[in-house]
Amino acid sequence: MNILSIETSCDETCAAVVKDGREVLSNIVASQIETHRIYGGVVPEIASRQHIEVIYDVTDRALKEAGLNMKDIEAIAVTAWPGLIGALLVGVNFAKGLSLANNKPLIPVHHIKSHIAANYIQFKELEPPFLCLIVSGGHSNLVEVLDYTTYRVLGKTRDDAAGECFDKVARVMGLPYPGGVEISKLALKGNQDRYHFPNPSIEGEPLNFSFSGLKTAAINMLHNAGQKGEEINIEDFAASFNKAVVEALTSRLQIAIRQTGYKKVALAGGVSANKMLRDKVSEICSEEGCSLYMPPHYLCGDNAAMVGAQGYYEYLNGVICDLSLNAQAVKSMEK
Ligand code: KG4
Ligand code: ZN
Repeated sequence: MNILSIETSCDETCAAVVKDGREVLSNIVASQIETHRIYGGVVPEIASRQHIEVIYDVTDRALKEAGLNMKDIEAIAVTAWPGLIGALLVGVNFAKGLSLANNKPLIPVHHIKSHIAANYIQFKELEPPFLCLIVSGGHSNLVEVLDYTTYRVLGKTRDDAAGECFDKVARVMGLPYPGGVEISKLALKGNQDRYHFPNPSIEGEPLNFSFSGLKTAAINMLHNAGQKGEEINIEDFAASFNKAVVEALTSRLQIAIRQTGYKKVALAGGVSANKMLRDKVSEICSEEGCSLYMPPHYLCGDNAAMVGAQGYYEYLNGVICDLSLNAQAVKSMEK
C-alpha cells in the first residue's frame, strides 16, 4: 500500500511516499532554517507562509522521485497535531484538497507518534511493545508503545522540552538557530566535566522531566561570567551542558527500564541526533540488557517518511477522517 504523506508542523515542509509503512520510496524535506535563523528561532507566521509557497512543489517532487503519480497512491496521511497551528493548517488543508480531488482516504497522524515510527523504517523487525524516549524541540516524553497505535505516557516535561532548552541556552551563547545542533558540535571538542549543572528531580515524580532550572542555571552562569569579565570556555561549556541534558534524560530512562522491565528501547525526535545522548543511551541499554533502536540521522528531525510509516498503522487500525478534519496545536498521545 503506497501512502503519500505530508508534514508541516513546524519549520520543515515535507512530503514522502512510503510503501506498507516500512519502505521509503521518496522523502523530500524543504527546510526553512535559513529563513528563521536571522530571528534566532521559528517565527510561526513566516513558517506558515513559506509552507504555502513550497508545499505543492515538495509534494510533486515526492511523487516524481518515487516514480509514481496520484493513481498509484492509495491514501494520504498528514500531520494534524500537535504543532504550530498555522503551519499545521497548511499541510492539513493541502492534504484535504488532495484527498477530495483524487478520492483517496485521509489519515490524520500525531506528530510524536510519527517520530516513534521513524524507527519502523530503519528496523524492519521492530514491533511493539517497547519503551521509547522521545526528545524533540517541543516534547520530552517517556512512553510505553503498547501497540502501533496505543501508548501510555510514563513521563513528560513539566516545563521546557529538551530541544527547547538546548536552543535557548545556545542563543545566549551566541550560537545560530537551531542551537542544539551547534552545541552538540562544540561539545565534541570540549571537557564535559569542567562546568557543573543541576539535575533537578521532582518529588514523587521520578519519570517526569524539568529543564527550566537547568536552562536558567546555564544562562545565569554565562551572564555572571560576563558581568565579572571571566572567560567561559565555550567548548567546555557546551560539553558540560550537553552532558547535563543527557544525564537528565537518561537517568529517567534507566529508572523506567527497571520499573517496567522492557528489554526493547527506542529513541526518537530531533534531539536523538545528539551523539552524547546516543552514546549514553547505548551504554545504559547494554548495562540493562536491552536492545536499542535509534533512527538514522536523516529520520531524527521532522520528515514526512515517518508520517507515512505511522499513517499506515493508523489506516490498518481504521483511523480515517473526512473533510471536517481540523488541525490542533495540542493533542495527547493517549487518546
Ligand atoms: O523533532 P524536531 O525536528 O522538531 C520538533 O518536533 O520539535 O526537533 C528539533 C529540535 C531542535 O530543538 C534542535 O535544536 C534539536 O532538535 N536538535 C538537536 C540536535 N539536532 C537537532 N539537539 C541536540 N543535539 C543535536 N544533534
Ligand atoms: Zn518533530
